[in-house]
Amino acid sequence: MMTVAGLLSGCGKDPAQMSDAELGLNVQQSHGRKVYNIYCLNCHPAYSSHGNKGPGLKKLYQKQYLPSGLTATDDHVMQSIFRGRGMMPRFADQIDQQEMQDLVAYLHTL
Ligand code: HEC
Repeated sequence: MMTVAGLLSGCGKDPAQMSDAELGLNVQQSHGRKVYNIYCLNCHPAYSSHGNKGPGLKKLYQKQYLPSGLTATDDHVMQSIFRGRGMMPRFADQIDQQEMQDLVAYLHTL
């Protein structure tokens, strides 16, 4: 749920260009954003429904289903990240448990 202040300050601004503070991210979520920007952003625009190499992840958890048709749960999302999916590589060797928790916390803010 966006606050009125959040709407006003975010008005007309591209979220991708906004700072963590402007986005209202907590410490964990902003760590997750860093992980995302390193490993994911190249294929998944965070604040767009239009994909790049992979689907855009805007409102990922606000929709009932993931692009694959699986329900939008942490388990399903983490499985795709750890094991890979289709053309998406697996990240089990690059991302540790803490980074995964931070990443998922950030994905919930999209
Ligand atoms: C090389 C490009 C690439 C990278 C890097 C990448 N992905 Fe993906 N991702 C894809 C593609 C392609 C799909 C669609 C896979 C399919 O369903 O065939 C996808 C699908 C997904 C999905 C949807 C899964 C579903 O069940 O529909 C999520 C969530 C996701 N990626 C998150 C991430 C996250 C988080 C990262 C960073 C850790 C990441 N991806 C890195 C290409 C990528």
